[in-house]
Amino acid sequence: MCGIVGYVGNRQATPILIDGLKRLEYRGYDSAGLAMLVDNGISVYKTEGKISNLESILPDIKSTCGIGHTRWATQGAPTTTNAHPHVSGNISVVHNGIIENYEELYEWLISKGYEFVSETDTEVLAHLVHMYYKGDLISAVIEGLKKVKGSYAAAFLCAETNKLVAARKESPLVAGVGNGENFIASDVTALLKNTSQVIYMNDLELVQVTAQGMQFFDFDGKPVEKKVEKIEWSLEAAEKSGYPHFMIKEIHEQVTSVNDTLMGRISEISGDVILQDITLTLEEIKSLERIVILACGTSYNAGLLGKYLFESLAGIHTDVDISSEFRYANPVLSKSTLVIAISQSGETADTIAALKEAKTYGCHTLAITNVVGTTLSREVENILYTRAGPEIGVAATKTFTSQLIALYLLSIYFARKRRKMDIDKSKSLIISMKLLPGLIQQILNNKEFIQKQAQRFSNAKDYFFLGRSLNFPIALEGALKLKEISYIHAEGYAAGELKHGPLALISNETPIVALATRSSTYDKMVNNIKEVKARRAQVIAIAGMDDTEIGKYVDVVIKVPITDELLYPILSSVVVQLLAYYSAQALGCTIDKPRNLAKSVTVE
Ligand code: AGP
Repeated sequence: MCGIVGYVGNRQATPILIDGLKRLEYRGYDSAGLAMLVDNGISVYKTEGKISNLESILPDIKSTCGIGHTRWATQGAPTTTNAHPHVSGNISVVHNGIIENYEELYEWLISKGYEFVSETDTEVLAHLVHMYYKGDLISAVIEGLKKVKGSYAAAFLCAETNKLVAARKESPLVAGVGNGENFIASDVTALLKNTSQVIYMNDLELVQVTAQGMQFFDFDGKPVEKKVEKIEWSLEAAEKSGYPHFMIKEIHEQVTSVNDTLMGRISEISGDVILQDITLTLEEIKSLERIVILACGTSYNAGLLGKYLFESLAGIHTDVDISSEFRYANPVLSKSTLVIAISQSGETADTIAALKEAKTYGCHTLAITNVVGTTLSREVENILYTRAGPEIGVAATKTFTSQLIALYLLSIYFARKRRKMDIDKSKSLIISMKLLPGLIQQILNNKEFIQKQAQRFSNAKDYFFLGRSLNFPIALEGALKLKEISYIHAEGYAAGELKHGPLALISNETPIVALATRSSTYDKMVNNIKEVKARRAQVIAIAGMDDTEIGKYVDVVIKVPITDELLYPILSSVVVQLLAYYSAQALGCTIDKPRNLAKSVTVE
């Protein structure tokens, strides 16, 4: 998705903006541009493709104030003309989001004599602000944006004044506080190199940025008091640190991220889960009749394991809905429903819209998210941060296992409050969870073996991932990981469902990954493996170290260390991530930035 950076200060702006844009590359983009305030006005540079293309056309610009953008095309092809910034006279703009009343504004602006050079909706913003500009940029931006329906994080530069004005509605925007310099960005990772002091902007707020300071306003032009917050993420965490790709770095980081998600939330002594951020009262937890989980993609797969856990441990009926479907599905919710939105980025437009819809029914709300200060975190009553650190690779890895850990914690927490789980079970699960980082390390120590299997099957056209009960979500996740980064077609199936259709597709050319760790459905899973072996499929089983039988039925066994039956999904997740990573590597794919995908999907 698109990215924004802006700078006003005492240093040369170009390298700061380019560095910021590079740190936003992971979000996905197809063109990039800069608008720089120079002695005789605004200079704009933009290109299709990579930021390196943009760098190659930049002259030596003397400017201490500018805005930059990476564009992920929505309206209008990914061309240089459609790239941002867009210009109207003395005004330049970069924009993330969608202008829903574009057609109407376009016709109106044409009737006022404006000419359009691009196919983008963003160009109306430049013309609107130009039309209302009478010497005060902030007033012009307010007037212009009042005409707009839709979503935006937008930053404006005016040739006559050494300042930026930025505004947000339903698209992320954060201001960075420096010393004699200030910044704006659509994502804190673009700011980390220069400052850890940030101010998160709310919907319908504007900021006026100069080198000396920042003033925040609402759309009536009234000043708004804002709080400076410290970002805990380090710059190093957002860099590759010697790994060839962010994805493999982030897979390795699960040794610490799982621990960070657990930290301070479990007590081995009392055997309980402590969730201080959860404000639901005991009475409210006891009277919960239903949980509805809203999420997309990998977060949805995490939600499916959540359903298994909430139902089997806490006895709460749980539904998992794809966010983009939920909103249009006439949901049935009540005040005794808890809606849990799961989103790594906290900015996924579909999930935010679904949550807003759910809130109209008066239900309780909770978010499981990885990024502090995001739109999602400000929409809910309760937040469980996953604390996995910045995830740059488009394929979610460490944030997925941290989401799963958060769901284990929450389900044990509810189970204990509702008296569905005794202290011995809770204690034993907590002790097993504490051991997970070491077990993940053991899997990583075996990565060469997993790499060999990935290479062996990397020419396959189709893969199937099979699992039952709590392994089913990991089958879906394994298939999603493989297809998104290696472009191998992959399907995740509940193994019992195979004979109801997909078995017709199985042959010796379709490798099967069978999630066969110990569970109540283990024997059934072995039967399903026999079914596919009978169709001459090659089977890679993921099984426990103690399983001496499974090797008889399959071609390859990837062994994972022994843990509590409930916790195997965490370990199997690491294996399927490594399989996907090494398959994509064998095929020479652009692993961290798969084609057509964006890290944070901020449009519906
Ligand atoms: C994960 O590998 C995908 N890139 C994608 O499915 C992602 O999980 C989905 O877009 C949801 O994102 P979120 O967790 O930030 O809401």
